[in-house]
Amino acid sequence: MLTHVIAISSNTNNNNKKILFLKPVFRLNLAMTSQTTLSRLFKPLSLAKTTLNNRIIIAPMCQYSATDGNASAWHQTHLGSLAISGAGLLFLEATAVNPDGRITPYCLGLYSDENERALSQVISAVRSFSTMPLGIQLAHAGRKASSNAPWAGGTLIPVDQGGWQTMAPSVLAHNDNELPPKEMTLTDIQTVIDDFVRSALRAVRMGFDVIELHMAHGYLLHQFLSPLANHRQDNYGGSTDNRLRMPLEVFNAVKDTVGDTVTLGVRLSATDWVRGGWDIEQSKNLCRELEARGCDFIDVSSGGVSPQQSIKSTPGYQVHLASEIKQTVNIPVMAVGLITEPAQAEQILADGHADAIALARAMLFDPRWPWRAANELGETINAPQQYWRCLPYQHSSIFADTKTEMR
Ligand SMILES: Cc1cc2nc3c(=O)[nH]c(=O)nc-3n(C[C@H](O)[C@H](O)[C@H](O)COP(=O)(O)O)c2cc1C
Repeated sequence: MLTHVIAISSNTNNNNKKILFLKPVFRLNLAMTSQTTLSRLFKPLSLAKTTLNNRIIIAPMCQYSATDGNASAWHQTHLGSLAISGAGLLFLEATAVNPDGRITPYCLGLYSDENERALSQVISAVRSFSTMPLGIQLAHAGRKASSNAPWAGGTLIPVDQGGWQTMAPSVLAHNDNELPPKEMTLTDIQTVIDDFVRSALRAVRMGFDVIELHMAHGYLLHQFLSPLANHRQDNYGGSTDNRLRMPLEVFNAVKDTVGDTVTLGVRLSATDWVRGGWDIEQSKNLCRELEARGCDFIDVSSGGVSPQQSIKSTPGYQVHLASEIKQTVNIPVMAVGLITEPAQAEQILADGHADAIALARAMLFDPRWPWRAANELGETINAPQQYWRCLPYQHSSIFADTKTEMR
C-alpha cells in the first residue's frame, strides 16, 4: 500500500524570492494500510450484536482440565494467552450442560453454581486485560460421553471404573465393541433441552458475548440429526424433519429464553463422510430452519459421528462445505479445518467461501498467529501494552497506536 507524505523544500527564484515546493514522496507504509484498504481477514465483522475487530476466530478446544466441570488454573493460563492474540473472537471449549453430557470426567461444565463461580473467576481475570469478545460452546456428548481424555486413549470409561451410563437417541454404540447408550425417553429429551436453557442463562449472566450450540462432531445433537446414530421410530427419528426436531427444539428454547441479549449461533458437521449418513443437503435444510428461527451464524465443521468416516484432511478440507452453506443462508458463515496460513485465510474470504475463519491447532501452536497474519497482510493489530516493545525492527509497525519510551 502506497501512502504519500508531503516533503517541503525551498528554492530561490530570479528575483531572489524564496519559493516553497511541496512534493509528494511515496513510500510503503504498512501501519496505514488497515485504515485505508483493509484485507478481508482484518475487516470487522458484525455478528448480530457482537462486533469482531477482524475475522480470525479461535475455535472451541476442549482442554480436559476441569474438576467436576469447574474451570482451573489451566483455563486461566490457556484462555489468558489466547485473549491477547488479537483475534476477533475467542470461543471457549465444549462446555457441558449437565454432568452426563461431559465428554470426559475432566470436561468443563456450566450446570452448577460452583461451575459458574469457577468460570466467572477465569472470565473476569481475562476481561481485566482483554476486550476480545468471548464465546462459549454449549454441548452434550450423548453416546460419546464418559470417555477417557485423548492422552489416556479416549476410550469409553465403563461405569465400574468411574464412567457413567451414556444416553443417546438410539441404543447404538459409537464403536461396535462398546457398551451401547440408553435410548432417551421423551422426558430425557425435555430435561436436556431445559439443561441447555439453564446453561445459556448462566452464560448470559456471566457476560459471554456469543453462545454456540454444538450440533457437530458426533455429539448428542448431531446424533439426533444423523441417520447413522438415530434409529428412533417416534417423532424424533426417521424423516429428516423428525431428525431435525430435537436440535431445533434446543435452539428454539434457548433463543426464546435469551432473545437478543446474546449472539446465538450453531456449529454443525455438514457431512458425516459416510454414504447414507447426514450430508450437505440435509445440512442446508437445517441451516435454513436455523436462519428462520433467528440464528446469528453457522460454524461449518464435519464428521465425528461414525468410525466409518472417510476424510481426507488436506488444507482447507471443509471450506467447500462452508461455501455451500454460505450460498444457502444470509447469515455469517465460518470456515474451519486446516486453515493455517494468513494468505490461505485471506483467499477463502476473497473467494466468498466464508465470512470468517476459525482456527484451532494453528492457534495452539502459535498463539500469536493473528500478529503474524497482520504482518503478512500489511495490517495493524491490537496487542497488550506490556508487549509493545517486542516487535522486531522489520515488523515495527504492526501494533496500532503504540508508543514506548524509557529514560
Ligand atoms: C485440542 C482440540 C480440542 C478441540 N475441542 C473442540 C471442542 O471443544 N469443540 C469443537 O467443536 N471442536 C473442537 N475441536 C475441533 C476444532 O475446533 C477444529 O474444528 C478442528 O481442530 C479443525 O480445525 P484446525 O485444523 O484449525 O485445528 C478441537 C480440536 C482440538 C485440536
